[in-house]
Amino acid sequence: MLSLCMILISHFYLLANARVYNHHTLVGEDGDLITNVCRGAGDFKANCSIILREDPKVVNANNYFDISKAILELAIRKTSAARNFMKELTKNNDSPAITACIADYEFAIDFFNHSLDELKESPATAVYDAKIVINNPYFCSVQLENAHIVNPSIDALNYQTSLLSVCASQAISYTIPPPRHP
Ligand SMILES: *[C@@H]1O[C@H](CO)[C@@H](O)[C@H](O)[C@H]1NC(C)=O
Ligand SMILES: *[C@@H]1O[C@H](CO)[C@@H](O)[C@H](O)[C@H]1NC(C)=O
Repeated sequence: MLSLCMILISHFYLLANARVYNHHTLVGEDGDLITNVCRGAGDFKANCSIILREDPKVVNANNYFDISKAILELAIRKTSAARNFMKELTKNNDSPAITACIADYEFAIDFFNHSLDELKESPATAVYDAKIVINNPYFCSVQLENAHIVNPSIDALNYQTSLLSVCASQAISYTIPPPRHP
């Protein structure tokens, strides 16, 4: 009897939370998803909005799960293109620093990809994976600086990768239901 009571109580809390969660989702849908996603992006706020509005799949998403998925796909595409650009640079001109950047970008692509894999089952892990990507362009910039390489194209790619890390983790954080009370 007691355990039945517990089950009923926990269901009550689940339902109560489900309502709050849906309300939270509805509030988001009433506004503009991209505006909400970029709101918490700090210094990246303005460019978050610009880069996301350039992608039709991101623009057309109508819930936080779909927009998170679209942003991660955009991030994987852009980070892969950045890696390919740096591979081209090293083709005829061996540079240990740029080679290190390529390795950093492989990690970044893997983390975005892993985040996409976790999005449904473990959104907290997905947030973490998307968030820590920001380390990789930073490591790349340090490598370049130590090797005294000045390359504005790579600087721009490092900025873009950091930006996508912030946009993706902000979006995914909206898919996490609020904590349940025991
Ligand atoms: C936004 O991105 C552009 C390059 O695309 C950069 O020049 C500018 O400084 C960025 N804005 C902020 C606030 O960082
Ligand atoms: C992402 O991971 C999947 C396996 O989960 C793999 O098949 C795919 O090639 C990966 N994509 C990229 C861009 O690394």
